[in-house]
Amino acid sequence: MNKITIQTPDDWHLHLRDGAMLQETVPASARCFNRAIIMPNLVPPVTNADMLNNYRERILAALPDGQSFEPLMTLYLTNQTTAADIKAAKAAGAVACKLYPAGATTNSDAAVKTLTALYPVFETMAAEGLLLLIHGEVTDHEIDIFDREKIFIERYLQDIVSRFPQLKVVFEHITTADAAEFVLAGPDNLAATITPQHLLLNRNDLLVGGVKPHNYCLPVLKRNTHQKALRSAVQSGSKKFFLGTDSAPHEKSKKESACGCAGCYSAWSAIELYAQVFDDLGALDKLEAFASHNGPDFYGLPRNSGQITLVKESWTLPEQLTLADGSLMVPFFAGQQVNWKLAAE
Ligand code: NCD
Ligand code: ZN
Repeated sequence: MNKITIQTPDDWHLHLRDGAMLQETVPASARCFNRAIIMPNLVPPVTNADMLNNYRERILAALPDGQSFEPLMTLYLTNQTTAADIKAAKAAGAVACKLYPAGATTNSDAAVKTLTALYPVFETMAAEGLLLLIHGEVTDHEIDIFDREKIFIERYLQDIVSRFPQLKVVFEHITTADAAEFVLAGPDNLAATITPQHLLLNRNDLLVGGVKPHNYCLPVLKRNTHQKALRSAVQSGSKKFFLGTDSAPHEKSKKESACGCAGCYSAWSAIELYAQVFDDLGALDKLEAFASHNGPDFYGLPRNSGQITLVKESWTLPEQLTLADGSLMVPFFAGQQVNWKLAAE
């Protein structure tokens, strides 16, 4: 197959950042995604309805004329979040709340320190029809970074999913065979997103032959057996898995640093890289459900009406991008060849 047309996809996990960076990130995602779940980990984080409304306006102000794109807003949970905050966020159009364990990742210092203390808030979310999006890693100092996702499942996720059957839970950016198995065997209120980098790469791509900071993200890339399990999960066609790029830009100097930030800026090539993975797996017929059906179906939102076409044509990503303010960013897969290309409309 050299060409594939699918219903317009959405990105169910996206970091657009704020300020001048929106001029870069919003058009980059809107080029192929009609909607995206917007991560709330700004500084300060999006913790109430006013902040959420203002952030949505700043995103839409960065959308070029003639491009359509709907930001699906999320609220950042803290141990101070109340039932009233949840109801106000729902009234402001939020579709979900994001749970970061404190210290798990970029801008998560203000996040949740005691998870069970949030259980009353989860009740309200379930009643209001808001989804719970979870960064599923424990943060205990003594737990090895490669085990943090597996241990989060055992310690917390299992309990949340069974205790709140009315609460839809998305296990975000899964990285392990343990997570894929847990989601597949789990109840209908549980689903997961999978990033392009976790399908394409494993920890060798991060560490062999020198540290590759642009392949560093959280949860960190795992060993190749886990990568294979994720590839099998999407190949299976299970409706419990869907597209979430976790595109997460950082300035070049903050990635190429003695203490480099986590996050891959994949918006420039995400849909094309997913197509490449599904093609490699001989599963291009499963791409449309993963990218365009399973997400809206799980969220209870309508599927998109338009279509995009991808053609099998090689192109090379730029080595770096210069933003309007002169700052530099290195896109995921910089300087590398991609075998699929989004066709012009
Ligand atoms: C994300 C970021 O930079 O905001 N980084 C990442 O490595 N994925 C945060 C996150 O999703 O963990
Ligand atoms: Zn993320």
